[in-house]
Amino acid sequence: MPDKETVVVTGAASGIGEACALRFARDGYCVVLADVNAAGGARIADELRDEKLDAHFRQVDLSSEENVSAFAAAVIAEHGAPHALVNAGGILQNAVRVLDMEIAEFDRLFQINVRGTLLASRAFGAAMCEAGRGSIINLCSLTTFRSSAQVAYTVGKSGLRGLTESMAAEWGPRGVRVNAVAPGYTLTQAMQARIDSGQRDPDAVIERSALRRFVKPSEVADAISFLCSNDAAAITGVTLPIDCGWLVTTAYQAYASQPQ
Ligand SMILES: NC(=O)c1ccc[n+]([C@@H]2O[C@H](COP(=O)([O-])OP(=O)(O)OC[C@H]3O[C@@H](n4cnc5c(N)ncnc54)[C@H](O)[C@@H]3O)[C@@H](O)[C@H]2O)c1
Repeated sequence: MPDKETVVVTGAASGIGEACALRFARDGYCVVLADVNAAGGARIADELRDEKLDAHFRQVDLSSEENVSAFAAAVIAEHGAPHALVNAGGILQNAVRVLDMEIAEFDRLFQINVRGTLLASRAFGAAMCEAGRGSIINLCSLTTFRSSAQVAYTVGKSGLRGLTESMAAEWGPRGVRVNAVAPGYTLTQAMQARIDSGQRDPDAVIERSALRRFVKPSEVADAISFLCSNDAAAITGVTLPIDCGWLVTTAYQAYASQPQ
């Protein structure tokens, strides 16, 4: 790795974003942890600094264009164009019927998950294009590929695949790669809380995954680390499932002769 480079991780106060911040910091990068949750993000940055790692917390609200612009400008002024941006900030949704969903809920999901990703990608992507290098990772989901009762979430995660591909095509000639990961059911604290409150059925997830288990947050971080590395220098515009084989199993299990 050349002289210390910076990785910006949104949503770094918990779950997949936290795992990415840990991974990149322990790999020797300067990591800017960003989140709307200041207490959680600052605590993780403090813990990383206790390990003598280079970590800095900045609060950002992805729902605010002004806020994201100011955040990106401050990071770029201090650290230059980052090596990578991981857009892990986002919100989940509980199951709801299309006929019952509040449009305000749809707007909120879209504002943070899609518009927030676009705002952060544009702000840092412009600096990366100018620098002629950089890598952006968006967080898609199994709902990018399959229907789901999380209607607004699904629309957003499908849209993020399109956004990933458009940015990859537009910024590739400038040396910037843009990819997405599509994690399967990942056992974050937020996912555990949804299991505990009856919003997710863990047995159904395990039975329908080829590897018969949940994904670990650190495994999503491993794949993101690969996509940001030189080992993935020829990869741009892809959406990579990290799902313990959930996508390949759900249709396969419709056949009665499936092995157990
Ligand atoms: N956990 C899973 O199973 C799973 C599966 C597929 C995709 N994902 C996606 O991965 C990403 C991270 O999810 P997670 O499971 O780690 O969830 P999480 O709730 O643990 O983390 C999301 C983080 O985003 C932050 N955030 C929320 N709104 C924000 C805002 N307006 N501005 C800035 N930060 C904000 C939260 O404070 C939180 O720290 C999300 O995009 C999610 O859709 C998660």
